[in-house]
Amino acid sequence: MSEDSRFARIIRLQQHMGQKGLDCLALVPGANLFYLTGLSFHLSERPIVALFPVDASPAIILPALEEPKVALLGGAMQAYSYTDERGPAEAFQQACAALELAQARIGVEGLRMRVMEARLLERYAPDCQLVPADDVMEALRVTKDAGEVAQMRRAVAIVEAALRAVLTQIRPGMTEREAAGLLMVETLRGGSEGVPFEPILVAGPNAASPHATPSDRPLRRGETVVIDCGAIVGGYVSDITRTVALGGLPEEMLRVYEVVRRANEAGRAAVRSGQAAQDVDRVTRAVIREANYGDFFIHRTGHGLGLEVHEPPYIVEGNRQPLRAGMTFTVEPGIYLPGVGGVRIEDDVLVTPEGAETLTTFPRDLIVL
Ligand code: CO
Ligand code: CO
Repeated sequence: MSEDSRFARIIRLQQHMGQKGLDCLALVPGANLFYLTGLSFHLSERPIVALFPVDASPAIILPALEEPKVALLGGAMQAYSYTDERGPAEAFQQACAALELAQARIGVEGLRMRVMEARLLERYAPDCQLVPADDVMEALRVTKDAGEVAQMRRAVAIVEAALRAVLTQIRPGMTEREAAGLLMVETLRGGSEGVPFEPILVAGPNAASPHATPSDRPLRRGETVVIDCGAIVGGYVSDITRTVALGGLPEEMLRVYEVVRRANEAGRAAVRSGQAAQDVDRVTRAVIREANYGDFFIHRTGHGLGLEVHEPPYIVEGNRQPLRAGMTFTVEPGIYLPGVGGVRIEDDVLVTPEGAETLTTFPRDLIVL
């Protein structure tokens, strides 16, 4: 990330913080911190807290062994480091005093900050008030700029090439876990910076659970195989699901496949700026309900995609949030028949000024292996 875009993002953050009446934002390792600084750390037992005051330069409290990463920012962030022997107390005390955080209103990540970091802040910033402020970061991250979309396009290209490669290799008798392993290898070989989530490659009854874990059950003829996988480029992810058939499928599964394919298409066609997020869910769900499979579509239609695999906007009933150009999310209807099998077709969609663009290009007609 360039110094300019880092600076611009922090300025925009401070404007949003001002509107929310926050004196400071405290972030732990994760996508929000990466978005603002380019820094990535593990969320571990050694606390790391970055502090973004509304009217001053940011600071970070971190283990001494991580300090070189901050030094690369060229003094943009004041570091308060601690060794394993001394522990974090003194560093927290110094940072909180320097940033005058006593009695401050401090925004925190309700979805991410742990009791450990919260207690340290409350202890060393006496009478501070910790306020969940996930929406402040959401406001910045929910629409993607051209650079972010370019990374996501690369992540799509990598995962689609991996999927293509794996479809030439899987065959009956191979276990779900073996096939999922091949998919992981192909994704990394294609240039992905790791995997955004463990690939799901499940067949038969196991495919009737949307988040099943690949097992040691061998793939069998006459079953659907649900393959859900992603790649990471520059921190940005892709997330695609295709369902393929091993040999001919029973009549009902062919019908189910066609319903899901039409629901996916209708959902993507409903995406445009100004439309409420829940409308995309309604349009997608209506296709499945009208085919009398409504009870078997047991999850929301989609989720936002970016630095995280699940982030706003959520494509779900009740979310009236209007879609805006630059938002990226999945459309992933599925039908799951307990004990029999499942079908899901997931695409990544970008809202454009004119309508929408589907970033994923992999064919959606049933592939029979
Ligand atoms: Co997925
Ligand atoms: Co998804």
